[in-house]
Amino acid sequence: MNDQDVIVVTIDGPGGSGKGSLALNVASALGFHLLDSGAIYRLLALKAMRTGIDLDDEEALLVLLDDFDIRFATGDELAIAFLDNEDVSAELRTEKAGDAASRVARHGRVRAGLLAVQRAFCQPPGLVADGRDMGTAVFPEARFKFFLCASVEIRAQRRYKQLINMGLSANIADLQADMSERDERDLNREASPLLPAEDALVVDSSLLNLEQVTELVLSHIRNNG
Ligand code: C5P
Repeated sequence: MNDQDVIVVTIDGPGGSGKGSLALNVASALGFHLLDSGAIYRLLALKAMRTGIDLDDEEALLVLLDDFDIRFATGDELAIAFLDNEDVSAELRTEKAGDAASRVARHGRVRAGLLAVQRAFCQPPGLVADGRDMGTAVFPEARFKFFLCASVEIRAQRRYKQLINMGLSANIADLQADMSERDERDLNREASPLLPAEDALVVDSSLLNLEQVTELVLSHIRNNG
């Protein structure tokens, strides 16, 4: 079976738009594999910080890719991520890791180096890929493409609840400011900026709950499958 036989569903959008939970729901409803590409950027950023590498040093980041040992496992509720065989899931979810990831993600050659890592998740019977450039750069041939958006205020509120539920401390105003800054960085970078693919269905989740967005996406897939 080649990659073309594997059904790929891409879900792109800014942080806090609800992509992660949506991707999880859609993958489990369809029995597909799941790729959380943001976690891959976070893992690389974490490795860089642990090694003492400057996040703006593209050459040094590229060297890290030669020995980038990562693995994911399914936990009770949240995915577990391993870096060099160590469970780093908690550290990965912090705002610090997210911010560092968005700095690492600016480098075009780092993004190119991570393409194969991400494409390896494309396994039968299908894949739901969550990120910023899944439909534009990583899986341009995907069968179904969605782009999820929501106002920055709503996204900050959602991220706040997520962090509090994980037992982490958070402040809504700070989150909103960080999100706007990260949006700027993601939208304005030269390499794969955050933009909907031309053939993506854009869904504004500001006024919809997770169940409604999941249903909308699943019915689009069923009606066009
Ligand atoms: O989605 P998440 O918040 O985990 O992503 C962390 C950062 O990684 C994002 O802010 C973005 O800059 C970067 N990223 C990316 N391309 C992806 C996934 C994430 O540039 N496909």
